[in-house]
Amino acid sequence: MPIEAESMNDLTSRKDEALAAIAAATDLAALDEQRVAALGKKGWVSLELKSLGGMSPEERQQAAPAIQAVRGAIADAIATKKVALEAAALEAQLASETIDLTLPAPETPRGSIHPVSQVMDELAEIFADLGFAVSTGPEIEDDWHNFTALNMDENHPARAMHDTFYFPDTVSGAAAGTAPSASGEAVTGELKMLLRTHTSPVQIRSMLDQGAPIRIIAPGRVYRSDSDATHTPMFHQVEGLVIDRDIHLGHLKWTLETFFKAFFEREDIVLRLRPSYFPFTEPSVEVDVGYSNEEGRRVVGGHGDDAGHDWMEIGGSGMVNPRVLEFAGIDPEDWQGFAFGLGIDRIAMLKYGMSDLRAFFDGDPRWLKHYGFSPFDQPTLSAGVGVRP
Ligand code: FA5
Repeated sequence: MPIEAESMNDLTSRKDEALAAIAAATDLAALDEQRVAALGKKGWVSLELKSLGGMSPEERQQAAPAIQAVRGAIADAIATKKVALEAAALEAQLASETIDLTLPAPETPRGSIHPVSQVMDELAEIFADLGFAVSTGPEIEDDWHNFTALNMDENHPARAMHDTFYFPDTVSGAAAGTAPSASGEAVTGELKMLLRTHTSPVQIRSMLDQGAPIRIIAPGRVYRSDSDATHTPMFHQVEGLVIDRDIHLGHLKWTLETFFKAFFEREDIVLRLRPSYFPFTEPSVEVDVGYSNEEGRRVVGGHGDDAGHDWMEIGGSGMVNPRVLEFAGIDPEDWQGFAFGLGIDRIAMLKYGMSDLRAFFDGDPRWLKHYGFSPFDQPTLSAGVGVRP
């Protein structure tokens, strides 16, 4: 039986009504109401579809395409309207939420680089330019590397100058690392363990590891039982070691002078090498730098004997004692070298104008905020190794 014209007209007019309501929906909620009313479980289109089940096959054949077409038209209209409403909502949001680019960004708390770390980076940068590599050694060192191999045997009076922190237990030679004697045989006895008193044991480790020639620096922490405004129980040194053929004191002086000129960014640096004694260098010299007193502050530069100037000791150095080369398995007939050890904290104080060494290690964040460096102040030779905070 043909579908009745009346019910067809009814279907068409309900469809037109629904399409008009969809077109008139002003927001997504109103549109969803229309979807539920037509296509929801109990929506009128869904009910029409359900009614197909009660029809004869002929009726169904005629009615089904018409109802499906209505369902398709309504679903399409809803989908199209949804896209349009969503775009309009986004546009309205963008128009209402303006960003004020002139507002300052909220401050993010940022740490700063400790002056000692900064100075270590500066040292490495300058010495790298002079062809030096960076070496390291353990802070818990054995007696042999810290003293004996540096020509300070057990009863050597120079050991007393390094007020040393010893560990209660000793370790056998093998456990502490190979410790060859001057004759090249491994030391098998017991070794006392200690907090290294200087960076000089890295000289021995580098010579044993790589043999000659050598051109290294070794910055790091060292420990002595010392405490006043210019001495702390833990401080930092940088060791320098050059082993090659035909090396003499002139090379040492040039290297240190070139380093200090770059480090302090001044051409008028004057160094004084003063005869001294270290068991591991021969001859030995103490390195002094000329400075002037300006408003109570020591400013490096100028000749220490000039009016208003003086000398300040910044480290020890000398030609490597042939006995030390022998201890480290290098033939002193073929090779010579120079070595130096500078107090990093002292040169940091001089460069950045701090007066009390102890403040370096108090861990006071206000001090660090004042004297610390931004992580972006990476020292480079081209941009300047001494960016002040
Ligand atoms: C030495 O430690 C030798 N190893 C240096 C050396 C190396 C000489 C290579 C020859 C060849 P000295 O004890 O003088 O030497 O220390 C070197 C520097 O470390 C001193 O000039 C000083 O700048 C610094 N220093 C020494 N003791 C302290 C301390 N307690 N606190 C801060 N800095 C210190």
